[in-house]
Amino acid sequence: MTNLVKAGPLPRYYQLMEIVREKVRTSAWPPGAAIPSERDLCEQYGISRMTARQAIVELVHDGLLYREQGRGTFVATPRIAQHLLSLTGFTQDMRSRDVQPGAKVLTVEMWPADDAAADRLRLKPGSPVFRLRRLRLADAEPLAVETSVVSFLGCDRLLDDNLAEESLYHLLESKYGLVLDQADQEVEAHSAFGEQATLLGIAEGAPVLRTRRVTYDARHQPVEYATSVYRGDKYTFYTHLRRHDDSS
Ligand code: GLP
Repeated sequence: MTNLVKAGPLPRYYQLMEIVREKVRTSAWPPGAAIPSERDLCEQYGISRMTARQAIVELVHDGLLYREQGRGTFVATPRIAQHLLSLTGFTQDMRSRDVQPGAKVLTVEMWPADDAAADRLRLKPGSPVFRLRRLRLADAEPLAVETSVVSFLGCDRLLDDNLAEESLYHLLESKYGLVLDQADQEVEAHSAFGEQATLLGIAEGAPVLRTRRVTYDARHQPVEYATSVYRGDKYTFYTHLRRHDDSS
């Protein structure tokens, strides 16, 4: 038994949280591993059941651990963070985090732009655009369902590309000569239902993050309007905020 330090400014449940964090950080307890039961933690560290429970509740709240009813408490897989500063595509995002990107094409077609897409892409509703729906995978696990509506002269040639294997951004730049320059993006909280929940492998009503992104070329012409639905338990949007803009 390793007794936790009783005295001092740090509460005992916090000391236990630090021990658990260290085990996860050093991969002594890898993602998916079951952590010892409350009773075992009490015995091992000479603490009360309440202290063990409080530490676990906090760590579940922090997203380091997750609970499964009747099965126990497990180490969570770290979330994937998208840095909201640079314009990167899914493939690039995953690779920069040593995660293997993947895609399953759900539908690929030429399609008459609906009002939302037409408005964002500055087209007349009903104009033919290329529409691609993909399930995006991270290390073979479903992470997002993404619909990309793309408009440029000759965008129908994208129908012949293999978008299960290739990055859309990469194709637009390298094969079609577009210069992707900037994007506007919104992020909202939603719940997944029906097909979305099934595709993402989550329960009906589980939380998701929905983004809408309009990507522009160097002449500020909109090229792509994408709506993506990310698993709320797997993804973090990260942004760095400055109080003062250096340029002013
Ligand atoms: C992100 C963006 C989409 C874009 C996609 C391209 O997910 N939200 O707007 O279509 O990246 O990803 P890739 O280049 O991997 O096809």
